[in-house]
Amino acid sequence: MTPYDATPTQESLRATALTDGLGRRVNYLRVSVTDRCDLRCVYCMAEHMRFLPKAEVLTLEELDRVASVFIGLGVRKIRLTGGEPLVRKGILTLIERLSRHLASGALDELTLTTNGTRLAAFAGDLARLGLRRVNVSMDTLDADLFRRLTRGGDLAQVQAGIEAAQAAGLAVKINAVALARDNAAEIPALIRWAHERGHGLTLIETMPMGEIDEDRTDQFLSLTALRQELASYWTLRDLPLNTGGPARYVEIAETGGRLGFITPMTHNFCEGCNRVRLTCTGTLHTCLGQEDATDLRAVLRAGADDADLIRAIAGGVDLKPRGHDFRIDRGSAPSVARHMSTTGG
Ligand code: 5AD
Ligand code: SF4
Repeated sequence: MTPYDATPTQESLRATALTDGLGRRVNYLRVSVTDRCDLRCVYCMAEHMRFLPKAEVLTLEELDRVASVFIGLGVRKIRLTGGEPLVRKGILTLIERLSRHLASGALDELTLTTNGTRLAAFAGDLARLGLRRVNVSMDTLDADLFRRLTRGGDLAQVQAGIEAAQAAGLAVKINAVALARDNAAEIPALIRWAHERGHGLTLIETMPMGEIDEDRTDQFLSLTALRQELASYWTLRDLPLNTGGPARYVEIAETGGRLGFITPMTHNFCEGCNRVRLTCTGTLHTCLGQEDATDLRAVLRAGADDADLIRAIAGGVDLKPRGHDFRIDRGSAPSVARHMSTTGG
């Protein structure tokens, strides 16, 4: 794969830095590199998913090219997601290509959200290629529940991946989706597990994305309520971290660790949003909770030059919606039809 070279001059950078129609600066790109996954988490996927034909998915060269144009437009942070990014063939080639922007200083951070199943095999290479941190999804410490929630996943494999990542020098953050029926009671234990090992942990409220096989209403757990409960026996101190994202962080005095809350359903965070998302088919979504979309693959495959691509990207970003309007109501259809696995969290 030949690296695509978009090395902007300082002048062109200033002229073209991405800002949406409401004045929000976009400097964070999340890239879903595949819609496939080796797990089938109940809140994420239906048991029988039809995945995309290969021809619809951007090639590694196309992913590199689009990401590099975004970097040319001032994106400073890229997160690779999926599906499961580590099941994408050639993922290390892509990461190696993108890491040239770390070396040049154009990119501050290249990182990855993974389910951890293949992390033990990949951790060393990821660290070598310049990644400094990874987010690993793990919703429970109970192997049977893990197997049920992921429809077949092996918790020990994921925990081995987390250990390997830490041993390779990667900072690990654990993501856990808060599920009223399934893991609510063990959330304090999950927090303690993570903090004892030096990992931060972020709790995520379920979001109504894509048809799944069950009703999301009875899985929904309000993190605002959970936070109050934790605060009844732990000392939570608000941290003034603003990542431009939906997470709000606290430090727990008793564990010495950091806890994040992603509360799309009970707390709106859209005013400061700095991010956009590229699906594995090259569709640009400027809001996780809206249907807005710009088809960059069509532009790419029509033989676009950089100026065409930049125009298409800037046009999409300009229309970034003010915010999402997720709702979880009994019997309501998903707020957005696409699954998290196509948009990539
Ligand atoms: N709501 C909330 N979180 C979800 N994830 C996947 N689907 C959903 C959903 N519908 C989580 C995964 C992972 C992160 C990328 O997104 O568990 O932690
Ligand atoms: Fe795979 Fe992540 Fe979806 Fe689970 S939540 S099925 S690990 S993409």
